[in-house]
Amino acid sequence: MQNTDPLKPGYNFDAHLVAGLTPIIEGDELDFRIERPNGMKGYIINFTSKGEGSIFSGENEFKVRAGDILLFPPSAAHLYQRSADSASWFHRWVYFRPRAFWNDWLTWPTEVNGVYVTQGLPLSVTQPLEELFIDIEYTAKSDLPYRNDLSINLLEQLLIRCKTVQPDVVTKPIDPRVIEAMNYMTQNLNQDFTLEDVAAHACLSPSRLGHLFRDEMKMTITQWRDDQRISRAKQLLVTTHYSVNHIGRIVGYSDPLYFSRVFKRKAGVSPKLYREQIT
Ligand code: FCB
Repeated sequence: MQNTDPLKPGYNFDAHLVAGLTPIIEGDELDFRIERPNGMKGYIINFTSKGEGSIFSGENEFKVRAGDILLFPPSAAHLYQRSADSASWFHRWVYFRPRAFWNDWLTWPTEVNGVYVTQGLPLSVTQPLEELFIDIEYTAKSDLPYRNDLSINLLEQLLIRCKTVQPDVVTKPIDPRVIEAMNYMTQNLNQDFTLEDVAAHACLSPSRLGHLFRDEMKMTITQWRDDQRISRAKQLLVTTHYSVNHIGRIVGYSDPLYFSRVFKRKAGVSPKLYREQIT
């Protein structure tokens, strides 16, 4: 007879989503090595809630502890068990067949023997992730209408969140002094401010601000300011009947010829043509 318990060997994972918690305690009936050397039909995402697990053996062996997350693509071998150094290993997991557009979320930069690994995240990140695991399991096992769609939706959220905490995706917050400089410029877009004015506002020397700005924003202050001016000008060209020269002045270019030149360089067409094409 077929096994109906996904925690025991022989269960047929023939579904789009199965979620569970495997509470392994030393000497208990679940205290065995999970062995699927040829992988599974679907993916598994695995979260350690407590204790320690041991993944693979020999030179590929590594340990997982609370908050660590593993992602097993279908071809990855499942060879894991409670670590001999720990009296328990509780792990939550979701088995799933991904949708095609999830592909980008399903690769992480660190990989061991075909398994993606995320370790060392702070509790403030792992706690909400664990809650998602719980929510997915609860929803999938509920009798809520649309429970499949709901649990898949939660799984999408989990996968996206796991992707966004990967070191190659995490975006570093912008330096507050650069933000200060940008705020000053957007508030004074129509003024003829100088680099010295902006720098004084950000409490930095002009050259220090210039370097910092370029490091953080990958463009110069003048390029950034012109981008803002031109995007504001585009907006005014299509939403008002102001003359081109007037719009130039509103966004900070007192010289109409210079305004036209910068506009054309950034937008590819003159302000007049831009207005005609859009309106
Ligand atoms: C359970 C295991 C769990 C996971 C699921 C798919 O039996 O305990 O780690 O592999 O199967």
